[in-house]
Amino acid sequence: MTEPYRPRLHFTPASGWMNDPNGLIRIDDLWHLFFQHDPDSTKHGPMHWGHAVSRDLTTWEERPVALRPDRLGTCFSGCAIRNPQGKVTLFYTAHSVTADGRDHQVQCAAHADAALERFVPHKANPILGNPGYEVFRDPKVFWHAPTERWVMMLTEGTKIGFYSSTDLETWTHRTSFGEDQGHCRDCIWECPDLLELPDGAGGSKWVLIVSVSDGGPGSGSGTQYFIGAFDGHRFFNDNPPETVLWLDNGRDFYAPQSFFDPDAAAPLAIAWASNWAYARQTPTEAFRGAMSLPRQLGLLRTEADWRLAQSVPAETIAAFDASRDRNTFRLGFNQSFRQQSDISIALFGEKEPHFRISWSGERQLTLSTRRAGFDGLPDFAHAYAVDFPWEPNRPLAVELFVDRGLVELFCAEGTISLTNLFFPENPAGPLSIEHRGWSADEATRPQPHMTQMGGQKNG
Ligand code: FRU
Repeated sequence: MTEPYRPRLHFTPASGWMNDPNGLIRIDDLWHLFFQHDPDSTKHGPMHWGHAVSRDLTTWEERPVALRPDRLGTCFSGCAIRNPQGKVTLFYTAHSVTADGRDHQVQCAAHADAALERFVPHKANPILGNPGYEVFRDPKVFWHAPTERWVMMLTEGTKIGFYSSTDLETWTHRTSFGEDQGHCRDCIWECPDLLELPDGAGGSKWVLIVSVSDGGPGSGSGTQYFIGAFDGHRFFNDNPPETVLWLDNGRDFYAPQSFFDPDAAAPLAIAWASNWAYARQTPTEAFRGAMSLPRQLGLLRTEADWRLAQSVPAETIAAFDASRDRNTFRLGFNQSFRQQSDISIALFGEKEPHFRISWSGERQLTLSTRRAGFDGLPDFAHAYAVDFPWEPNRPLAVELFVDRGLVELFCAEGTISLTNLFFPENPAGPLSIEHRGWSADEATRPQPHMTQMGGQKNG
């Protein structure tokens, strides 16, 4: 294997650097994924937009670079929309550095041809000038039917700005959200997204997703969300301002974006599976950066109130289950609660577990993870634990997707997820599981290379 750390069922660029997913859009039955890309190096350099397409969200075909730096600067993150006439427009941030060394960021548009092969910057770029923010980027645009306006969200440093427009060209600032809200009130908020999700009782709630540059659950960057209401101009947080909700509790899930797909039954999002704390130093050669699996987003009412619930689409699950690669597989099982119990999952033929899910016997579930390989970086190589208040009356379903060192774990009906990169010595080494005090109800797919499963150990 020449590239032991290139996942098979997650998107990676053939070569060069990649960070955030950009311009996610579904056109007919083709999924378009644009991405922050430096085709000429494996470090974050002058940003271009790479482009890839897929019909099943696991097999991707890379297309030529879509956007390149121009007189306004390099091309930072943004989105894609399709207007009612079928015209696709990309919105992105042009980033430049002033003569005295300060960042300057403005919002631009580019128009796509019908085949989404050529992208021509709008003549009147920038479409939105900078009112004086050093950080002013990552536009995400959607149609808000009740106010009959397009809404654009973008980062204004430590908060999110909401703008609206009737023609996609003239944008008016409406409100900003974030002062004294959620996590990281004094670090940079990036890549906002806003989704209206059904509440199962005929109503809906709005979920505002914000990536934060520091203090994430596993340290470094992370993604938080807020649940509330949106009237086309302003977002209202349902929870007290100090509530912090993490979209993923791993180290490697950043800048998620949902696909522009007005016909979707449930929004589908993809994130960059890395962390700014060490993204530039991970041990890959031809390429650097992978995307997460696509995730369907919905709401679930838990005993602790509303939470975002994530699930991997059936087609992606089927691709994992059909995999014949010893290091690309899915594992799913249900466990019933008992007093004081834990499950340990060790991957890649290593003895020490990579994940431990512990039930305290009271209202607490703890998920801990450890480092694997790649000892050189202090920010990467560490173990940590996350605690959840959890309702113990139902079985705990755990689902694990392993793809050559990129591991995504889901449990508690998708309200808890954890995405972590590992760089093990032997990515194809066997998996082993130990139980203490749990009963395994069902293993949805025992793996042929698993050394132990369901063997209950009392200890
Ligand atoms: C998030 C981010 C964005 C920015 C892009 C630059 O990871 O910092 O805010 O637009 O990456 O590549």
